[in-house]
Amino acid sequence: MQAMQWDAGRACWRAEGQALVEQVLGHPALRVRPLDEAVPLALAGGSAGEVFGALVRMNDGARHAAPKLALQRALAASATAGQERARCIAAQLLADGRAIGAWTFEAPVSTVASLLGFADTQLPAVARWMGDFVACLSPLSDAAQIAQAHAASLRLLGAMRELLQAAPAGTLAAAVAREAAHAGWRDDHAILANLVGLLSQTYEATAGLLGNCLVALQQGTGCANAAQLVARVMETDPPILNTRRFAAERCTVGGVTVEAGQAILVMLGAAQRGFGHGRHACPGQQLAQQVAAGCIEALSSAALPQLTWTYRASHNARIPEFQQ
Ligand code: HEM
Repeated sequence: MQAMQWDAGRACWRAEGQALVEQVLGHPALRVRPLDEAVPLALAGGSAGEVFGALVRMNDGARHAAPKLALQRALAASATAGQERARCIAAQLLADGRAIGAWTFEAPVSTVASLLGFADTQLPAVARWMGDFVACLSPLSDAAQIAQAHAASLRLLGAMRELLQAAPAGTLAAAVAREAAHAGWRDDHAILANLVGLLSQTYEATAGLLGNCLVALQQGTGCANAAQLVARVMETDPPILNTRRFAAERCTVGGVTVEAGQAILVMLGAAQRGFGHGRHACPGQQLAQQVAAGCIEALSSAALPQLTWTYRASHNARIPEFQQ
């Protein structure tokens, strides 16, 4: 097993290699947020901060366990419809003349919004709000972007509240409400926040997977079908490269002593753990791959233009932004 390395430049530990990555993600003392900063200071006092603080992704312990179980069960029930829905929505956006650069972000999040239960007419607004909201998840965002994220958060919470009140049977929103009741999860704000969270977890990561698939297509992959291409790209060019953990107390991991409060950069992508591992492993991995495959299938009927791209500024993700 590789030893943990101290990264002086980032003033944190660095965990590489499958065994060490799994050990870190399985360690009870290593948490998703610093004990003294459950919500990034830049978000404090606004709606996006309240959503951030309630997300399963950003909590450990009781605020994580039952909600995660409910989301996992609801997503498992909905995943089967993902590929077909994505193919329809992605084809429609292409037919509407959506540029590839916008399409890689809009098609996946619109598909998950549609699975949640939003009507087709609502999808463009939900996708736009989510584009604004995700700014709150990046430490690179400026004050104007954070303000936009707060405004988008209020709109998304309002839309989720209305959706949950009317959620037709068979939708992902209805499945989340049902599983939440089963799991004894009764925090209304946290349920709404995590419905928003399903879209925010989808937005950049699935756009990254879809985008990396387009890059692979342009470079010639030799994959027999879309599902094979998606699986190959998750191995060779995964969109999520790393995550972080914070020591809640002094602990020993990877042969070193990690002091309380110290951070660990966990190199997921290179360790073939692109969907994470352990208690915080991604509950949407099946759906994500289905959505990306459906979008690729929709593209097969359209001529893929010669693509040029740059990568979005990010500390943890590899997301191509196409100029076409
Ligand atoms: C290619 C697309 C995706 C990738 C690469 C991805 C990757 C990940 C990773 C690495 C984590 C764990 C982060 C950590 O441990 O710090 C995670 C968590 C999560 N993902 Fe995904 N994800 C993707 C798509 C989705 C989708 C489509 C959904 C739902 C619709 C989703 C829902 C979640 C949730 C709720 C969590 C938090 C789980 C927890 O903290 O227990 N993800 N994802």
